[in-house]
Amino acid sequence: MTKRIAVLPGDGVGIEVVDEAVKLLNLLNELDPELKFEFDHFDWSSEYYLKHGKMMPDNALDVLKEYDAILFGAIGDKRVPDDVTVWELIMPIRKNFNQYINLRPVKLLKGVASPLARDAPIDFVIVRENAEGEYSNSGGRLYPSTEEEIAIQNTVITRKGTGKAAKFAFDYAAKYGKKSVTSATKSNAIIHSMKLWDDAVNEVAAQYPSIELDSYYIDALAAYFVSRPHDFEVVVASNLFGDILSDLGSAVVGGLGLSPSANLNPDGEFPSMFEPVHGSAPDIAGQGIANPIAQIWSAALMLNHLGREDLGEVVVAAIEDVLTKGEVRTPDLGGQSTTSEMGSAIREAVQKQLVKEG
Ligand code: NAI
Ligand code: MG
Repeated sequence: MTKRIAVLPGDGVGIEVVDEAVKLLNLLNELDPELKFEFDHFDWSSEYYLKHGKMMPDNALDVLKEYDAILFGAIGDKRVPDDVTVWELIMPIRKNFNQYINLRPVKLLKGVASPLARDAPIDFVIVRENAEGEYSNSGGRLYPSTEEEIAIQNTVITRKGTGKAAKFAFDYAAKYGKKSVTSATKSNAIIHSMKLWDDAVNEVAAQYPSIELDSYYIDALAAYFVSRPHDFEVVVASNLFGDILSDLGSAVVGGLGLSPSANLNPDGEFPSMFEPVHGSAPDIAGQGIANPIAQIWSAALMLNHLGREDLGEVVVAAIEDVLTKGEVRTPDLGGQSTTSEMGSAIREAVQKQLVKEG
């Protein structure tokens, strides 16, 4: 299978960790005769913005549309306002390509001690509604720069959009033999939009009688992520709630350096995009010490999406193998290894496993 991949490293550590993910995919290319990736790199980033006054060229979406998937690092640079980088690059891709699901695994990998130091396995996914919700550009400011200034930011919850996210969550639960789906809500206080969220989720849940639906208010759920994270299997949440929960989930399993994500267009009409949960990490960018695991695992999610779950599993097993041995660890995991040492160790483990399976 030949798959064309658009690579957007972005800014900061994005550039450093994407490099390791691409090296790993190239290795798989060599080892697996049926797999053929063709990569095209795009330098759309804050650097590009400083030169051209925009984050991407005007025809960027037309260009990206032709690819099978997008591998994305992270963006963010203190010379460009964060709302510009987000709304001129990430949001147009997610929204125009109808990547209405953001799938974010939260799994305590073998070889990583949870800060919560409990033996029970932590292994769930967050299904974040990715196209509407609180991240809408509907709204505006009235009476600018006066004492009466008002900002209105509308939340857009639709029965259809919520229903599609809930359906994805329940289908995922059914596919992987999970018993429950947890919905993050706040319909006690946010009585219009979150009540529609509840209605739409309940409607979908009724079609899956063998899977239990638990609804929790987001504040309580945040506490449960810490006090009993092993109880969750599939968590479905609105755009903002899902964003916050996934940073929290990632802290529970060892940090942002380990957390992958997939922006999915489940209907397959547009390319999906694979990126770590983390940002451009300006505090450590340029030092070669970012943990590439979140990015490499995101590439494994891309392999799953492209129909090679077997290879996705090999990559995650290789990551766990390196973590369990414990010799190679980046500073966020308490070690002194570099980004490229971690990347090489994972490639070696992948090679060993594939040659063994051979
Ligand atoms: P961040 O995720 O970049 O960093 C948060 C903390 O996690 C920092 O201490 C950082 O050093 C650490 N960290 C992140 N990735 C790591 C890795 N691979 N290995 C080891 N440590 C890692 O979030 P922050 O600081 O809030 O935002 C920085 C910039 O990134 C901002 O400009 C923000 O807008 C942007 N951002 C972009 C995202 C994207 O491109 N999807 C997502 C989140 C933030
Ligand atoms: Mg985030």
